[in-house]
Parts: sequence; structure tokens; C-alpha cells
Amino acid sequence: MSLLKEFLSQVGEGYLLIDKEGRVVFGNDFLIRRGLLKRDFEGKPYYECVNNLTVVSCLAEALSEKSDKLCNFDHEEREYSLYAFVGSDLTVVRFSDITDLRRYERSRREFVANVSHELKTPIAVLKSLLETLYEEEDREEKKAFLEKVLKRVEDMRRLVEDLLILTKLESGEERIKREDINLKMLIDEIFELFESQALETKIDLKNSVEEGFKIKGDWDKLFLLFKNLVDNAIKYNKEGGKVEVKAYKKDGVAVVEVNDTGIGIPKDHLPFIFERFYRVDPSRSREMGGTGLGLSIVKHIALSHGGKVEVESEEGKGSTFRVYLPLE
Ligand SMILES: Nc1ncnc2c1ncn2[C@@H]1O[C@H](COP(=O)(O)OP(=O)(O)OP(=O)(O)O)[C@@H](O)[C@H]1O
Ligand SMILES: [Mg+2]
Repeated sequence: MSLLKEFLSQVGEGYLLIDKEGRVVFGNDFLIRRGLLKRDFEGKPYYECVNNLTVVSCLAEALSEKSDKLCNFDHEEREYSLYAFVGSDLTVVRFSDITDLRRYERSRREFVANVSHELKTPIAVLKSLLETLYEEEDREEKKAFLEKVLKRVEDMRRLVEDLLILTKLESGEERIKREDINLKMLIDEIFELFESQALETKIDLKNSVEEGFKIKGDWDKLFLLFKNLVDNAIKYNKEGGKVEVKAYKKDGVAVVEVNDTGIGIPKDHLPFIFERFYRVDPSRSREMGGTGLGLSIVKHIALSHGGKVEVESEEGKGSTFRVYLPLE
């Protein structure tokens, strides 16, 4: 027992035990040292001896809903993450200091943002120089060669653009507008972009969104979200296939579905496809100019709107991406 006590007083994390009446049974030294818990906590209700309002309201929610809860909060210039494991007799709350982790994440984000930003200008210059060369060249062989170079430069430009968008979204600094959006119009505009590509591969684009279906959000961001989903639905389709966008209301939110009759996604890959740079078949994606950032952008835009995205897929049959967005 003394070994356990020793461990709990030395460990670099906070532990708080609350009984089913909401009284504190135990709190380790970490919590007292960090000013999160009053010294004379024993037997007192948690809301009287925990020194942070966010923590109190997070615990109140966990205890009243009787479900585990994760919250992040600031206290005396440090950032913490709290996890409450709610049991029938005892609730165990673990506090971790995530200040250094956050600092590291921030510096990684800033690094990516800076590098991308610095690459943006030279790539734009390179592209316009190559375009001039291409226009002026009349020997077919050289023209074909320049076309290939230009395609690679365009891939680079897209990668840098996607990285910049993603780092902005991840930092949470990006302002999300709340405009009334006519969803059918938005999808029509996106389909227009892909008209010739769809024609080439004989893919039928069907906009089944009801006339007048409105959602609340940021037009440019949602345009990017659905552009990425439609792009994938066409890219990973089969000749003569179909892409259909539908929308309906469910439990007070809008559900927008992008369905395709394409190659589908193998089950063991499904949990990872929203991760940065993840591709099921890297060689196929690379050939199509894909870098694997599209779906992480989709996920972050949905989250920044207070929504989420889900996927359902059957290999060889097709996929459905379901985006939940606010109606109001
Ligand atoms: N509709 C789909 N059908 C089948 N596979 C898909 C579909 N959408 C995505 N995938 C798979 O998930 C991977 C990740 O998609 P994501 O959009 O993030 O990347 P990408 O399309 O390869 O590149 P990018 O979007 O950056 O151009 C893809 O490489 C592909 O393997
Ligand atoms: Mg994509």
C-alpha cells in the first residue's frame, strides 16, 4: 500500500477519485502542487475543492450522464487534458499536462505552414515560365515533354496549397462563416468543374439534392469539402459508373451523402483513410496526382462546422461518404 501511495505522490500525472455521491475520496500530490485541488479535499463535494471551472463542469456532465468524458482546459498557464472514467461506485479522473505536446504540435504546424508558404511563390513563377515556354514551342516532341513537366509542377502547386489549407484548419485559427447555403447550387457548381472529366470516363453525375435544401456554413470551405469527395468518387470509379449526391434531415442536422459505384475501399484500410497522406493504393493515387490530403481536409472542414464525416464502403461495389452539417 505504501508503495502505491509513494507512486501516486511522485507520478507526473494527476489522479482524482470521486464516489457516487460526488465526494472526493482521493487526490494525489500532483493536483495539489499544480493548484488544481484544495489541500483539505477529503469527503468534500468535488465542486467545492476543485479549483477550475472547466474541470468542475466537465465532471458534472460526466457524473450526470454517467459516461466517460474527455476535456481539455487551461490552468495557470499550463494546458491539461482530463479523462474521467465513470464507474458505478467510483469515478477515476486522470489529468495529464499537455503543454509540451501542444507546443510541439504548434511548432510542427508553423514549420509546415512556413515551408509551404515559402514554396508557393517559386512554384507559381516556375509554372508561369513553363507555360510561356509551352505556348512558344512548336516542336511536338518538346511540347509533349513540357506538358509532362507542367503536370508535375501543377501537382506540386496543389500539394503546397492543400498543406496550407490543412495547417490553417488544424490550428483552429481559420474563421468559419455561417451563411445560408443552397446545397443543390453548391453541388451543381462542383459538378460543372468535373464535367469534362466525367464525360471522358463515362461517369454519370447525378445531383439528387432537393431544390431549396438549405444548410448553414462557409460556402468556400464546403465547396472544397464536396469538391474533394466528388473528385474521389470520380477518380476511384469505374468506366460507365455513377456518382450521386443526396441530402436529407436527421435528428435536427443535415446529412449529405456522396455515393459512388467505384472500386470501393477494403475494410482494413477504412479506419485510416482520413489520415494525412494515407492512400490505399499509392501508385494509383500518384498517377492521378493525388497526395492523400483530400480526406483530411474533408474531415477538418466537417469538424470546423461542428459536424463529422463517415464512410461506408464495399470493395468492388462502391462507397458512400456521409457528411453531417448544421441546418441552422
Ligand atoms: N470514393 C472512393 N472510392 C475508393 N477509394 C477512395 C475513395 N475516396 C478515397 N479513397 C481512398 O482513400 C485514399 C485517401 O483519399 P484522399 O482524397 O485523402 O487522397 P487522394 O485522393 O489519394 O489524394 P488527394 O485528394 O490529395 O488528391 C485514396 O488514395 C483512395 O485510396
Ligand atoms: Mg482525394
